Amino acid sequence: MAKKILVTGAFGLVGSDLVPALQKKYGKANVFALGNKTIPKDFSGQLVKGSVVDKTSLERIVKSRKINEVYHLAGLLSVGGEKNPALAWEVNVQGLRNVLELARDYKLRVFWPSSIAAFGPTTPKKMTPQNTILEPTTMYGVTKVTGELLCQYYFTRWGVDVRSLRYPGLIGYQAPPGDGTTEYSVHIFYGLLKNNTYSCFLKADARLPMMYIDDAIRGTMLLMQAPSKNISIRTSYNFAAINFTPKELTAEIKKLYPAFVCTYKPDPVKQAIAESWPQSIDDTVAAKDWGWKPEFALQKLTNIMIKGLKQKLASKGEALPAQAGFRS
Ligand code: SER
Repeated sequence: MAKKILVTGAFGLVGSDLVPALQKKYGKANVFALGNKTIPKDFSGQLVKGSVVDKTSLERIVKSRKINEVYHLAGLLSVGGEKNPALAWEVNVQGLRNVLELARDYKLRVFWPSSIAAFGPTTPKKMTPQNTILEPTTMYGVTKVTGELLCQYYFTRWGVDVRSLRYPGLIGYQAPPGDGTTEYSVHIFYGLLKNNTYSCFLKADARLPMMYIDDAIRGTMLLMQAPSKNISIRTSYNFAAINFTPKELTAEIKKLYPAFVCTYKPDPVKQAIAESWPQSIDDTVAAKDWGWKPEFALQKLTNIMIKGLKQKLASKGEALPAQAGFRS
């Protein structure tokens, strides 16, 4: 049976890279994009209208497009969730429940992202194990733990084939940075290319698990293609690549742009969120079950972010200052 795929949150940080990857693999005719962010002018593909909090609208899409797989990415991130906790619950939990109900009724395979935000201050911070304490202190984290348990419930109770990853901070240049704590690591490249400076909202030594978006997309698709019998985790898999601090990222950037200056003005809310999360993640279960292995280290990520974002800004006609010190 041909795959018919629905992607919610299609124009967010993950969707902006996942939709083209799915289109490439399964054909543009078979991928349906649903999103409430501005649709990029250069988007080419199938758009559908609806809302993840409106189950009727989702059901209409599932039936009319004969959907059999859903990448349910729509959700508020950590900082957005603290600004509006009620909305975070509504979108992140009710949205997921709507998708899981439809998955049960229409036999859909589902991908849903959890996050390192499912962990909290009582979780072991280094090489955080798969099965550990989950006591998050953000509403975003609360919705992620709830979501993980819902996924496992729908699997054990009704056999819904739902698969999930605890994404670390994701770094890419296709989507503009959003309301996440880890997204200083995307903003910093805009600061570099626009002003040669960046004022960081986290402390210089705030170490967090991170991943280049191509690794995240490849891992997500790998998980979704794995035989069901290999999936031993139905809450959400630990998923890791690298970890670094703002200071280490700055040092890497300065190898290419020696004049770049990063200053630190920690935001109390964002810094507290960062401090509540782990610094590194043990993802050996993902490696064992479906062969996960990251490919992007910090240097490779830095080079590709600069090159990609430069091209993107230039194509949008956004002026770049003279980059005298750039060595590529
Ligand atoms: N990148 C997310 C955030 O910072 C973590 O899942 O909110």
